[in-house]
Amino acid sequence: MTAQDTSTPLLTPDRLDEVEGWFFAADRFVFDWLLTHQRDYGVRGDLLELGVYKGKSAIAIGYHASDAERFTVCDLFDVGEAPDASTATEMRVYYPTLTRQVFEANYLRFHRRLPTVIQGSSAEVTRHVPAGSCRFVHIDASHLYHHVRADIAAARELLTEDGVVALDDFRSPHTPGVAAATWEAVLTAGLKPVVLTESKLYGTWGPADLLRDALAGRLSTHPTLWGVTEDVAGHTLLRIHSR
Ligand SMILES: C[S@@+](CC[C@H](N)C(=O)[O-])C[C@H]1O[C@@H](n2cnc3c(N)ncnc32)[C@H](O)[C@@H]1O
Repeated sequence: MTAQDTSTPLLTPDRLDEVEGWFFAADRFVFDWLLTHQRDYGVRGDLLELGVYKGKSAIAIGYHASDAERFTVCDLFDVGEAPDASTATEMRVYYPTLTRQVFEANYLRFHRRLPTVIQGSSAEVTRHVPAGSCRFVHIDASHLYHHVRADIAAARELLTEDGVVALDDFRSPHTPGVAAATWEAVLTAGLKPVVLTESKLYGTWGPADLLRDALAGRLSTHPTLWGVTEDVAGHTLLRIHSR
């Protein structure tokens, strides 16, 4: 399955809640704002998501890929693809009903064409996506420290100079490995944290200040979200909260 029958009406973005997954209002706002801001300011590049599950955040990202930009997603989709026993356990516990077919069917309810799909471990992504080609990478795959650490290193290699990485679950009680890998990248590998929501940390290895300030300005008129800056380990980051 690669494309939907063009006679089938597509669902509109406001129907995204019909797709099962973990992608909440503040992050939907930040994804839309960020990817639009990049386009408006001439930041070009491909889009990448590691960990799609049934497609919720991928569907939102898909609206922002121009005809000249490639959107790639990577997921194991099947416990048989798990690279190790810990991942196989995580798949069985958290994603027992996931299949690639479910992801593709959901995606094609909202978009005419599928993104490029890599079925396999995120450890393989740098073999499929060229270095320095992405303006946005969403890391939402394994929660295990050594995998997330490798995903962050891959993001650094694949991002353009002013590209942005979003790291999911950087502070959830069940994902200490993501927290450790995320703050390690900030403290030792030059990742600049720009924005935090309750679920995700957004960072860059490029310029951070203008991006953060532009988003803070937009939030000052937002009806349901507000932001406050805080200095952390030599970085000024923007925390986003719901009213
Ligand atoms: C939290 S879910 C992703 C949620 C999704 N972004 C959404 O919007 O609902 C994590 C996904 O990562 C996949 N995954 C877990 N470990 C992986 C790995 N090592 N490589 C690639 N995908 C992995 C799982 O199959 C699962 O679909």
